Amino acid sequence: MPTAAVIGCGDVATVHFEAIAAIDDIDLVAVCDTDPDVLAAAVEAYGVPGFADHRALLAEMRPDVVHVCTPHDQHVPVALDCLAAGVNVLTEKPLAHTLEDAERLVAAAEEGEARIGVCFQNRYNATSQAAREVLDSGELGKVVGATATVMWTRTPDYYRAKPWRGRWETAGGGLLINQAIHTLDLLQWLVGDVTGVAGHAATRVYGDVIEVEDSAEVVLSHADGARSVFFGTLGNVVNAPVTLDITAERGALSLRGDLTITYADGRVETVAERQAPSGGRSYWGVSHELLIRDFYARLGDAEPFWISPREAMKSLRILKDVYAQSFGPAAIG
Ligand SMILES: NC(=O)c1ccc[n+]([C@@H]2O[C@H](COP(=O)([O-])OP(=O)(O)OC[C@H]3O[C@@H](n4cnc5c(N)ncnc54)[C@H](O)[C@@H]3O)[C@@H](O)[C@H]2O)c1
Repeated sequence: MPTAAVIGCGDVATVHFEAIAAIDDIDLVAVCDTDPDVLAAAVEAYGVPGFADHRALLAEMRPDVVHVCTPHDQHVPVALDCLAAGVNVLTEKPLAHTLEDAERLVAAAEEGEARIGVCFQNRYNATSQAAREVLDSGELGKVVGATATVMWTRTPDYYRAKPWRGRWETAGGGLLINQAIHTLDLLQWLVGDVTGVAGHAATRVYGDVIEVEDSAEVVLSHADGARSVFFGTLGNVVNAPVTLDITAERGALSLRGDLTITYADGRVETVAERQAPSGGRSYWGVSHELLIRDFYARLGDAEPFWISPREAMKSLRILKDVYAQSFGPAAIG
């Protein structure tokens, strides 16, 4: 039975603990957090040894898989130590807070034997999988373009409670790298590799609380000539459903929670998204468990996990391009 450890036991770790508990043949053996109160709560909740330093955890417990659920700037240092110890890694998005760190992790992943996957769980949504399938079938013809929005809200307390989220040094950005990265990833995954980025990011609402951006507009050119437009803000007053509309030569896809597929001959199909009770927030989606299950199932595969560091680099490059255009090259790290 593979053994697991979770490093970083804050908000998102809840869904990792839930998935580990739900999957029969994974054994949680240790937790780690640099915050003593968070660590003590995790040790009590899960009844496993706790470590304040991930290197001590690696040396003493040597789990098969480490789940990296730390702030953005702590993904790569932790993941590199795990890979160096021959321990497989499942890291939360984004790949890194800077391109420089991200490139180090891509190189380490491709040199070593240990597996590494990145949590873009929305690719496992029923709607994303159905969209991928119908586009691959060729029935809709070539994709012409797409429109996507992420119009959410965050309270100042969301940032005050975890100040790393609002700072360039620790988060590497705001809306784009933290929230909209899932939608940018789906855009490039479904519409095609991105060859051109034009965009602008700005802090429109939370400027008295955060350094990073809370709003952005982006135009993407894709390799096969398609064009996508994206708008996102955390300055909305509610968390509206993410929207993603794809226009193809012979039909269209429209995601509003569920997915509607409209064919040129007038047929309309709806794909319902799964609903799952979880201690996580609803806008995180329902698919962490599916991704985690798949990662463990593929540990023995010869090829790398499909959402690899190189794959995760694609959305990171898009948003860092927007940051460079908006704030100058220093913003990309
Ligand atoms: N996939 C998703 O939908 C999703 C959703 C939410 C958050 N996330 C990602 O999860 C990560 C964590 O976000 P969060 O909201 O849970 O943050 P959080 O601040 O609630 O939790 C992070 C925890 O990591 C601990 N920590 C910091 N540095 C550490 C280190 N070096 N070693 C061990 N522990 C350390 C902190 O003390 C904290 O308890 C981020 O990368 C975030 O983008 C992903």
